[in-house]
Amino acid sequence: MEEMDRELRDITLSDLRSPLFFAWHMTNKCNLRCIHCLWESGPDASWPGELVEAEALLVCRQLIDFQIPYVAFSGGEPLLHPAFWPVCELLAEKGIEVKIESNGQLVDDDTAKRLASLNLRSIQISIDGTTQDAYSKMRPGAQLAQALEAVTKLVKRGVSTEIVYVPAKFNFYEAEKLIDLAVELKVKAFYTGKTMFIGRAVKNWDLLGLEEEENEKLSRLLEKKAAEYQDKMTILYYPYSVTDELNYRLKHPAASLLLMANGKVKLIGSMPFVCGDVRKHNLTEIWQRYIKAWAHPEVIEYANSTLETPALLAGANDFVELHL
Ligand SMILES: C[S@@+](CC[C@H](N)C(=O)[O-])C[C@H]1O[C@@H](n2cnc3c(N)ncnc32)[C@H](O)[C@@H]1O
Repeated sequence: MEEMDRELRDITLSDLRSPLFFAWHMTNKCNLRCIHCLWESGPDASWPGELVEAEALLVCRQLIDFQIPYVAFSGGEPLLHPAFWPVCELLAEKGIEVKIESNGQLVDDDTAKRLASLNLRSIQISIDGTTQDAYSKMRPGAQLAQALEAVTKLVKRGVSTEIVYVPAKFNFYEAEKLIDLAVELKVKAFYTGKTMFIGRAVKNWDLLGLEEEENEKLSRLLEKKAAEYQDKMTILYYPYSVTDELNYRLKHPAASLLLMANGKVKLIGSMPFVCGDVRKHNLTEIWQRYIKAWAHPEVIEYANSTLETPALLAGANDFVELHL
């Protein structure tokens, strides 16, 4: 056993022929324009050259050939991408585990039924408060009742459903009530963590950014609720800031790729660096380029500099091609 543990610990990215996890930012278009959105998504924010269905299906075929175990779709609102259903249906049919991140605003009965047929690993619905006031401060124009309805419809159909809550100054005191509500709704998991200082969140930090002691208070609350609900729901608090995570990843890159809607592959969402392009490179090439890119001097310099100058993260959503 010890020997096996040691061997597992000693595995490096170069020992893998492909990633273990594939994060797919399907479209930057969204029906909402959330004030904290790390990608600055919105109704008019789709990028030029987003992948069309035939291109997206080509990517899927590679994921299937390489037997990538787990693919998570986000955005923007992934349900808005014209190829959302064919892509998810193909992956699900081939036994790849699929997770979807959604705001739930577009999940009616028919959509819930179709999502249930995908036999998803999970669907995550974002709910940032228990009052319409706090919820729509984060997500202007969105209806809390509709997001809750989406959760109810999915749970009723047996879909493994999670709630993600992003804390802000105006919804901080609703966290405990939201966890209780999540248990009532019979969701599988409740996730939260430090709000990321990227994208639109940078501009709205005065409304969003919690003091360190508030973050600690939230973390303690989650610990308490996790103990209270241990038999009913998984409760997790992700305690790392963007810069903590970035600097950890510099030493321990994840065995994952992040495909952006325009076909570019980024190292991580908090850096602008692009290591590949599905229109130019196949998955094997992209994987090799990804491994190489983490040791690139520009990447190391950027990650280290964000520790002293977090304002650099304002450029995270640019696309900077690395010479590899
Ligand atoms: C980018 S959204 C995309 C999927 C979908 N449109 C939604 O709203 O859930 C995915 C998740 O990221 C969260 N998110 C967005 N900006 C964030 C930030 N600055 N810090 C932490 N989480 C953020 C959202 O609240 C949501 O739970």
